[in-house]
Amino acid sequence: MKGKLVTFEGCEGVGKSKQITLLQEYLKSKNIQYYLTREPGGSKVSEKIRNIILDKNNSTMTDECEALLYASARAQLLKEIVKPKLDNGELVFCDRYIDSSFAYQGYARGLGLEFVKRVNDYAVSNFMPDLTLFLNLPPEQAFKRKGGADAGDRLEQSGMEFHNKVYQGYLDLAKIYKDRFVVIDASGTKEQTHNKIINALKEHGII
Ligand code: TYD
Repeated sequence: MKGKLVTFEGCEGVGKSKQITLLQEYLKSKNIQYYLTREPGGSKVSEKIRNIILDKNNSTMTDECEALLYASARAQLLKEIVKPKLDNGELVFCDRYIDSSFAYQGYARGLGLEFVKRVNDYAVSNFMPDLTLFLNLPPEQAFKRKGGADAGDRLEQSGMEFHNKVYQGYLDLAKIYKDRFVVIDASGTKEQTHNKIINALKEHGII
């Protein structure tokens, strides 16, 4: 039996990392086997590409170069790690995947969905997840909750306008890909959001 790929998406500061940690604890307590990876990264080569993409010193990187690097990291991760695991019937969770490229490069950078689709067609034949959990919290609320935006890496340094475009992009994607997108309201407590995630995974027959 073919495995399932479930992805996590959302804007910066929505509590995605915390939710993934809570999910891991839950899966462990229920003895559910899974593999967790992340994008960009997740494999030796892809992690090296990640370092180039997120390096603050690479301030002259063009939008096209950025989109191609994300797609390269994805191509490597998918072929080397994710696809073999899915072929082996495993459950794979990925912290960000192709929808991040649609939202960040397609919408926010302004390259357009068609450009990003074309690039990812070469990279991964537009291989889509079985389910995408979109943690829905507008950037202003997310930054207020965590006391300001991080200025850690190259992407986090982009301004509020950029993050709002990412957010609008995700809302559009949730409509375009409504069959696999689950919009999770992330405005409540972390326990409430966690419960919504578990319910969504159960409802969609993932766990
Ligand atoms: P990361 O530190 O993993 O961010 P987060 O904790 O928010 O997931 O950095 C990944 C950054 O790369 C993040 O700002 C989103 C961005 N990104 C894209 O712009 N396009 C992509 O295709 C992917 C996978 C990520």
